[in-house]
Amino acid sequence: MRRSQKSSRSVPRKEKTQRRDHIPVLPDEVVSFLVTDREGTYIDATVGDGGHSTRLLERLSPQGKLFAFDCDPEAIRTSSERLKRFQPRFRLERSRFGELEGELDKTGLAAVDGFLYDLGLRTSALTDPERGFSYSVEGPLDMRSDPDLSLTAAQVVNSLRQEELAEIFLSYGEERHSRRIAKNIVRRRGRSPLKTTYDLRDAVLEVIPKNLAVKTLSRVFQALRLHINRDLEELRIALEVAVRFLKPGGRIVVVTYQSKEDRVVKELFRKFSGRCVCPPGLPECRCGKVKLLKVLTRKAVTPSAEEIELNPSARSARLRAAERIIAR
Ligand SMILES: C[S@@+](CC[C@H](N)C(=O)[O-])C[C@H]1O[C@@H](n2cnc3c(N)ncnc32)[C@H](O)[C@@H]1O
Repeated sequence: MRRSQKSSRSVPRKEKTQRRDHIPVLPDEVVSFLVTDREGTYIDATVGDGGHSTRLLERLSPQGKLFAFDCDPEAIRTSSERLKRFQPRFRLERSRFGELEGELDKTGLAAVDGFLYDLGLRTSALTDPERGFSYSVEGPLDMRSDPDLSLTAAQVVNSLRQEELAEIFLSYGEERHSRRIAKNIVRRRGRSPLKTTYDLRDAVLEVIPKNLAVKTLSRVFQALRLHINRDLEELRIALEVAVRFLKPGGRIVVVTYQSKEDRVVKELFRKFSGRCVCPPGLPECRCGKVKLLKVLTRKAVTPSAEEIELNPSARSARLRAAERIIAR
């Protein structure tokens, strides 16, 4: 894809992306938290390029099984090729978290030993101009992880009211210039609709201080991605499904890459471990806390300096794990 000629300011050189293979994050930690029984049955709900699935299948015994899912057809294509040597103890289906319960019901699986959710994006999706996830390469403003979702980022930025856009940037991106950015988007789209990642990038760069360029662009693009893919809602569903299907002693491992998602994991782990998550000041508990999980990671596990050196995309990763216990 050609580089834009119109771009009002360029992004710092180090942010320009290149196509790279996805390197699984915290691979040893994921496997050791997740696998409690080498003959067990496991779910990788975010198979991506199959990096973690490969590690898991190598760790399991010949009786151990892995069912893998992803909403992105490209991830399904790549991982089915990479993991075919593990068949028949490996199965793969395309599914969003919101459809996972139905998929698991279909397989007849009643008790699962472990669920893995490695959130975020595959490196190859992030750097593919056609997917529109990155402000560093020009492409259509799309940002859908699942091409069957109806709304693209272009439709959102060209149709929502200024206040609604500002609310997305503030609530999903914690962007303090949210109103100014939303106003400029609305002003620019009045002249011509925003169609590409560079159109959005330029609308942002025009109204924020130059030294905040990278952080602000990351927050605005992240906010739109969370909104379009309903990532936080999907994550809540994903965790509820895991709690429902895990056998006692089975585990959930979640790797997140941004604070909004990590907060959802923390909040639901607290709720399912019997700790109240009501806002302070309520006269009585209304959160319906239940003791179904034991949290295994009091603090999130983060990658070592060596891992970050080898794989800079791992720098914001946070792993949390919990174990299913028998309901009291
Ligand atoms: C960081 S990648 C996973 C990488 C993988 N663990 C590996 O080692 O190759 C995250 C994957 O989760 C998928 N994903 C994100 N949200 C999803 C959802 N709601 N339902 C299903 N898959 C989802 C994305 O399509 C992407 O392929």
